[in-house]
Amino acid sequence: MKKTLSLTLLIVLLFSALAGMASAAGPLPQGGGQEYTVQADDWLSKLAEKNYGDVLAWPVIWKATNAKAAEDDSFVEIPNPNVIEVGQKLWIPDEAEAAQFFEEFAAERAAASTAGSADITGELNVLCVVQVEWCEGQIAEFNKIYPGLVVNYVRLSSGESLTRLRNEAANPQFDVWWGGPIDSYIAAAAEGLLEAYDSPNAVNLRDPQVMKAADNSWFGIYIGTLGFGTNLNYLEANPGLAAPTSWDDLIKPEWKGQIMIAHPSSSGTSYTALCTILQLKGEEAGWEYMRAFAGNVLQFTKSGAAPANFVGNGEAAVSVVFSHDIVNQIEKGLPLQLTFPAEGTGYEIGGTAIVKGAQHPDLAKLWIDWALTPAAQELGPKYNAFQAPTVIGAEASRPELLEVNLINYDFDYCGSNKTAFVDRFTNEIANADALKE
Ligand code: G6P
Repeated sequence: MKKTLSLTLLIVLLFSALAGMASAAGPLPQGGGQEYTVQADDWLSKLAEKNYGDVLAWPVIWKATNAKAAEDDSFVEIPNPNVIEVGQKLWIPDEAEAAQFFEEFAAERAAASTAGSADITGELNVLCVVQVEWCEGQIAEFNKIYPGLVVNYVRLSSGESLTRLRNEAANPQFDVWWGGPIDSYIAAAAEGLLEAYDSPNAVNLRDPQVMKAADNSWFGIYIGTLGFGTNLNYLEANPGLAAPTSWDDLIKPEWKGQIMIAHPSSSGTSYTALCTILQLKGEEAGWEYMRAFAGNVLQFTKSGAAPANFVGNGEAAVSVVFSHDIVNQIEKGLPLQLTFPAEGTGYEIGGTAIVKGAQHPDLAKLWIDWALTPAAQELGPKYNAFQAPTVIGAEASRPELLEVNLINYDFDYCGSNKTAFVDRFTNEIANADALKE
């Protein structure tokens, strides 16, 4: 099944009415509403869109129907909100009643899964892909909830992580993989490197069809969009130039030797850019574009976010990285201008998963459950990480980074072709021998 995050959902991520649904949680509401019989191709989120104009209000129908089922056996309880049957009777509360059901859902989810945490002891080994500052910050926050745990981590880029998991498959050293685009998680799952886990907090996800694996082998925990970071001093010194606003700008002669991006063999950021081009232009024209693009690249880096820092320090003119990493560098004072390709840009869903054969699976489950809570997903900005959240109840810190023209990025296509596309890039476009660190 094509896994793409619909633009509708992204817009809803921005303007979710959740924050406006305020009312005290109390006894089951006795307000108005209507019965509805499930038709073919119905989803709870689709019914929420139809009845409340908000795909994210689906927990209202789920909780209201379950409440009715408890007192009226003509309604059937719904254990899994992703599964409703044609002919099943649902209860669709009216707006007044809906707000109360949603508040109850949000309160339950926020409280879930950290009870009795102070007494838990042991060791957890995390393979972390995001920036070190966020790796360390997120682990410190986890330790506040589970002070008895010793949490070790290694920071590697996406491609390096996948290689490490492959090499250690017989004797896994990591329990949890956290961060990096899900393209690598889809590839890893196909190779049997991930442990499926039906987290009770997966129900918090705004769009479970896209934001988690059907077999629960990985979960999405953040969203980021690809952008261009251009050095302002370079633009001032070259008044005839403007920051690029199209992928095709990047292959123009004026940027020769002035572009920095990571190599897709090590970087999920770079692989997202490669797969964006192949989807935007088609594979044949896409590979032709990549050949021309590589001719303008000063040097490929190992880490995806690094080009924003190098370009911010004047080592080249233009960086291609996730937009939140450019914002990170701008907020640290580097002279960068953020722009986006008008024809459409790619985006990532950052992933997390339990490693197959993990030595501490029960502790890994605690990490996954926590990573899928609003509280965990609103910590990023505290550590200069401005990715958008994937769970209901957490608000995006920089919503403007999602308000751009996005392609319908096909995660299954990019994940299932990752090894083949990376090999072709390395063999035909540019090798990975001297990556800048
Ligand atoms: C940065 C970004 C993350 C992204 C990660 C991928 O840390 O902030 O959003 O998932 O890079 O790392 P990589 O080095 O594999 O491109």
